Amino acid sequence: MAEADARSVAILISGRGSNMTALVEAADAPDAAYKVVLVASDKSDAPGLAWARARGIAIFALSPKGLGKPAYEAALDAALRAAEVGTIALAGYMRLLSDGFVAKWRGRIVNIHPSLLPRYKGLDTHARAIAAGDAVAGCSVHIVTEELDGGAVLGQAEVPILPGDDADRLAERVLAAEHRLYPATLAEFVAR
Ligand code: GRF
Repeated sequence: MAEADARSVAILISGRGSNMTALVEAADAPDAAYKVVLVASDKSDAPGLAWARARGIAIFALSPKGLGKPAYEAALDAALRAAEVGTIALAGYMRLLSDGFVAKWRGRIVNIHPSLLPRYKGLDTHARAIAAGDAVAGCSVHIVTEELDGGAVLGQAEVPILPGDDADRLAERVLAAEHRLYPATLAEFVAR
């Protein structure tokens, strides 16, 4: 079977979905580099899912609870293939994909992470950057591999840490940078 078009994008979310919203809105431009063909979530009550549904985007919602990871991922994989997805964009998707799933989609899954990788992989990135006394924080879009937040970095945006910043204030400014970085980096990625 021919590989699906890289410009057909699925976005995976678990919650708020503000990066998903930014990606979808960028795809509305007449000269957009990619099309969002599916929004999928492991939480059927993810706020972002309702937004996507209202927008007329195909959605897929399934919880792994009670199902187990292999069956959950098999169903997700089937939904992605049925939608002829070429690129998967993780946007606040809070579940670790198995090595087997990553291998099947090798080089075609990207993620946005709220730090300047390779610094601060994992959680609590803003608090850790402030505690370390860093002058600059930021966000990264990277390829997803079996190593958590460890794949090749495709794009980054820096955000200065200001006197008096706490994790929430810094997170808010980094999030605004994420919303610019992710659509631009995804557009370049799918056009490679
Ligand atoms: C973002 O900070 C993103 O970098 C991280 O999870 C958060 C998701 O936020 N991976 P949202 O759901 O896109 O609003």
